[in-house]
Amino acid sequence: MELLKIEELSKNYLTKKKVICALKNISLSINENEFIVLVGPSGAGKSTILSIIGDLEKKSKGQIKFSKKNIKVGYMFQEDSLFPWLTVLDNCMLGLKIKNKITKEDEKYVKMLLKKYGLSNFEKSYPKELSGGMRQRVALIRTLAIKPDILLLDEPFSALDYQTRITVSDDVFKIIKEEKKTALMVTHDISEAISMADKVVVLSNRPAVVKNIYEINMDNKTIPSENRKNEKFNFYYNAIWKDLDHYER
Ligand SMILES: Nc1ncnc2c1ncn2[C@@H]1O[C@H](COP(=O)(O)OP(=O)(O)O)[C@@H](O)[C@H]1O
Ligand SMILES: [Mg+2]
Repeated sequence: MELLKIEELSKNYLTKKKVICALKNISLSINENEFIVLVGPSGAGKSTILSIIGDLEKKSKGQIKFSKKNIKVGYMFQEDSLFPWLTVLDNCMLGLKIKNKITKEDEKYVKMLLKKYGLSNFEKSYPKELSGGMRQRVALIRTLAIKPDILLLDEPFSALDYQTRITVSDDVFKIIKEEKKTALMVTHDISEAISMADKVVVLSNRPAVVKNIYEINMDNKTIPSENRKNEKFNFYYNAIWKDLDHYER
C-alpha cells in the first residue's frame, strides 16, 4: 500500500543574493514497508527532499501526500547526534520527552528495543563509552521510540569508517525490517544504496531531478553485507555509475 506520494516537488531557496533552485519536479511514491534509497552527488538536493517531507522546510511547488492522517516522521542524521551528557536510556527517551509526557508503555517499549538489539547492559552508559556502531544503534532506537510511520535517514553512516559502516548497515537494515518500518535513506555511496534498497532513486546534479529508478531484484536477497556479493550487484552498480557519470564536474 502506498504511504507517501511526492508529486512534482520543486524547491527554490531564496538567499539575499540569489535564488538557488534545489529541486525540480521530483515525483516519487513510497509504499509501506519499502526501503527507498536516494543517491546523488553532494549538493544535489537530497537533504532538502527529506526536510520537506519532515516539514522542516517549505516546498516551493508540488505536493506531498500521505495516505494517513497525523503521520509521524522519524529522523536519523549523518552526525552522531546523541547528547554526550545523557545516558543511553535518556538519549533514547529524548524524542518522547519533547513530544509528550512519557508513559510507562513508552519506557517499556524503549527498554524492549534496547534489549532486543543488544544494548540493555548499556542503558546507564554514556555515548562516549560506546563504539560508533553501538551509538548508531542507539540513535536509531531513539528514532523508533516515537513509533514513526516513516524513517528518514540522511547519510546515517557517513561518519563511520568503512568496516564499521558495513556492519552498522547490516544492523540498521535488520532493525528497520524487523520493526516493519518504511524508510527513505539518502546516501552518495552507490554500493550502500544497492545493498540496502528495495528501490534506488538516482538524482541528477542540482537542481535535482529524478534521473532513474531501479528496483533492486536479486535472487537470495538478504542482509546488505551479503547482497554486496550477489551476482546482480555489479549490474546495478555499473548502471547507476553510468547515470552518475554524466554529471558535469
Ligand atoms: N537553507 C538553505 N538556504 C540556502 N540554500 C540552501 C539551504 N539548504 C540547502 N541549500 C542549497 O541547496 C542545495 C541542495 O542542498 P542539500 O539538499 O543539502 O543537498 P545534498 O543533501 O544533496 O547534499 C545546495 O546547493 C545547498 O547549498
Ligand atoms: Mg545532504
